[in-house]
Amino acid sequence: MAKKESHDRSEIPAWKSDFPISEEQATHVNRREFAKFLGLLSGALALGNGVIVIRALAFPSKPLEGEHFVCNADEVAVGEMFQFEIRGNEIIPYILIHLEEGEWRAFEQKCTHLTCAVRYREDLGKIECPCHHGFFSADTGEVLQGPPPRSLPRLEVVIKEGKVYVREEKQDKTV
Ligand code: FES
Repeated sequence: MAKKESHDRSEIPAWKSDFPISEEQATHVNRREFAKFLGLLSGALALGNGVIVIRALAFPSKPLEGEHFVCNADEVAVGEMFQFEIRGNEIIPYILIHLEEGEWRAFEQKCTHLTCAVRYREDLGKIECPCHHGFFSADTGEVLQGPPPRSLPRLEVVIKEGKVYVREEKQDKTV
């Protein structure tokens, strides 16, 4: 009985015998490689957060000096919010809120949790951080709900001749 001839190695192309791994094996990512990738990614994120914290501690933002013009008072109707920035040793975004006739507030726009941009919700009468449903008082900037650990930094608003200015809030020494 004639035996079936085994595959002749000379029929296999040279590149295939040099790299005897199937395409499926070559593109397969095993559990160990995936865990290694996740470990490296977590390490990189932790390092990034560490750099941000160290930078914040090493270079704290300087207190605001003097008054800064924001806009004309008639540009922001009652119930509206106006975004602006102040450039010092860094660019800090703020929101100006026209709470009621003659009642203005200005707060830093970076949430004290993970620095998402907050916004004034006139329908709720509160400042909302949309990232993790944090809420702040539109009157004082205090945390009302959610994960933010601290109040929003606040500036004093001064209206002069129909123009809105902000300056560093005076600390109340009696408290
Ligand atoms: S970043 Fe604002 S609640 Fe998380």
